[in-house]
Amino acid sequence: MSSTLLRTVPALRGAIRVSGATKPAAALASTSFVRGKATLPDLSYDYGALEPHISGKIMELHHKKHHQTYVTGLNGALTTIAEAESKGDFTKAASVAPLLNFHGGGHLNHSLFWENLAPASRDGGGEPDGALKKAINEDFGSFDAFRKQMNTSLAGIQGSGWAWLVKDNQSGTLGLVTRANQDPVTGQYSPLLGIDAWEHAYYLQYENRKAEYFEAIWNVINWKTVASRFEKA
Ligand SMILES: [Fe+2]
Repeated sequence: MSSTLLRTVPALRGAIRVSGATKPAAALASTSFVRGKATLPDLSYDYGALEPHISGKIMELHHKKHHQTYVTGLNGALTTIAEAESKGDFTKAASVAPLLNFHGGGHLNHSLFWENLAPASRDGGGEPDGALKKAINEDFGSFDAFRKQMNTSLAGIQGSGWAWLVKDNQSGTLGLVTRANQDPVTGQYSPLLGIDAWEHAYYLQYENRKAEYFEAIWNVINWKTVASRFEKA
């Protein structure tokens, strides 16, 4: 892919040239684009490892089929943008923005989501401790209050979307946000914990009882990952 693209996209040839010694930030971003297509990340647990809370069949379809579709769509959108750029067709490039947001968001959200989960027999479930526990108590009153608010946010999503525990990058406080469809959490907020409220995340097992899914998933939340994101944000 890169040789064809490099022949047709002068900006990317420039990116390759500066990929050696100096590596300014902008060049790194471009280089990353040239060298790497988005790929489906491996899970650190088996598809069936989250049972009985999330079935292996759901996990397999969700990861292999749904997430793969976002990966494929993201790469397609990026290729279309690069080709349009090479022709100076910025109208075409701009027209891809909704696809880039949808598939790029889908890839980012699911990549975070898999890391947010762990088997109940390993790191999943329970409650956070340390600095994250303290922050949750300060900003929500208690862990139980936080969990209830998160579930209320999830239940309030109309159609497809996500609820996120986020850290406000300006104030440093924790909060809850929801996003429609696959809109990613960016800008002011750092995503710490996301819960997928799309039907594909639960319907095979819970059918229309999505409140049961929102209760069950707390048994497989990986608080180590959430705490790690909190400390780095
Ligand atoms: Fe999903």
